[in-house]
Amino acid sequence: MARRLHIPGLISVLEVTDPGEIRLLDGDSRLDRSLAPSGGFINRLRLARLRGAFVFDGKPLPALLGREAEGRESRHAELGRRLDEGAGAATWRQDPAFKTLVEGVAGQADVEALGPAAQGLLGRRFHDDYRADEAIFAAARRLNDYPRTQALRALLQRLSGQLRRDRQLLHDSARGDAMTLHATSVAVHNLVGALEAMRALAGTPGATSLPQAAVLARCLSVPETLLRQVLAPLSTPCSPHRLVPGDLVLLRLAEGVRRSGDRELAFMSDSWARCPAQRFILALLADIWERAVASRSGEGGR
Ligand code: HEM
Repeated sequence: MARRLHIPGLISVLEVTDPGEIRLLDGDSRLDRSLAPSGGFINRLRLARLRGAFVFDGKPLPALLGREAEGRESRHAELGRRLDEGAGAATWRQDPAFKTLVEGVAGQADVEALGPAAQGLLGRRFHDDYRADEAIFAAARRLNDYPRTQALRALLQRLSGQLRRDRQLLHDSARGDAMTLHATSVAVHNLVGALEAMRALAGTPGATSLPQAAVLARCLSVPETLLRQVLAPLSTPCSPHRLVPGDLVLLRLAEGVRRSGDRELAFMSDSWARCPAQRFILALLADIWERAVASRSGEGGR
């Protein structure tokens, strides 16, 4: 059931959680990913926060680009092909962080080790010498949380220079490459969320005999919200009122997936904005799970 919050001049937001409504709105070209200032005061504040966090060198990070952004489609298709190839060959097994991820899920390494290890492994899909550590992962966490941070804390992060320093550190580590920045600052948190869920699951009785598909369905971590902005007036069965330019539409993806168990939705597989990393992430998680479970069974047998 969609929820609409509308106070003229202040806020105009439509929230949807139903998978059918998410797909319907996502498919409508009158809505797009746009961070341009528009709408009431609170809508503008929200967009300003997103720009403050995720615009680098004048451009939004890849998963915030509009439909028609130059080169978006071809770049992401190319990335998808490259990641799929890597997934086919399980190239991550040569990465120094892979062992840590397996141990982390098996409960044989600290849970805190998962973040920097996942960040490093993702970064090295783009730059062989990408180095992650606790400080760089903490910066990524703060940056990713910044748009949802409570107003006073966000102000302090800006005034103290923390936000600027975090962005600089992540930017330098990614050598200024937008896709590396997206992977190591934003997407990494969904990978870590899934790994933490697998770690918790691995410690429960009977987990080792669960089919892989059931493990992934239970542990996949999905972005909470996808943001769309209304660019042209539209009437839709998802909203009791006509939507007008500047209205924000929040696609509540995590809740939609939780309720429906629809894994295709987790990566927006049938969207114009589908995630190019879907196959790679699912194969990586499956491989880590298999090895973590094998390693736990080995422990028990000793
Ligand atoms: C568990 C891990 C991940 C999940 C659940 C996930 C999910 C998603 C979702 C739902 C979108 C659609 C966003 C929108 O429509 O606003 C998306 C887009 C995207 N994702 Fe992922 N993602 C994950 C990991 C990654 C990784 C590791 C990368 C890069 C290496 C990546 C790269 C992208 C890109 C480039 C887009 C934009 C696609 C486009 O606009 O054409 N994702 N992802």
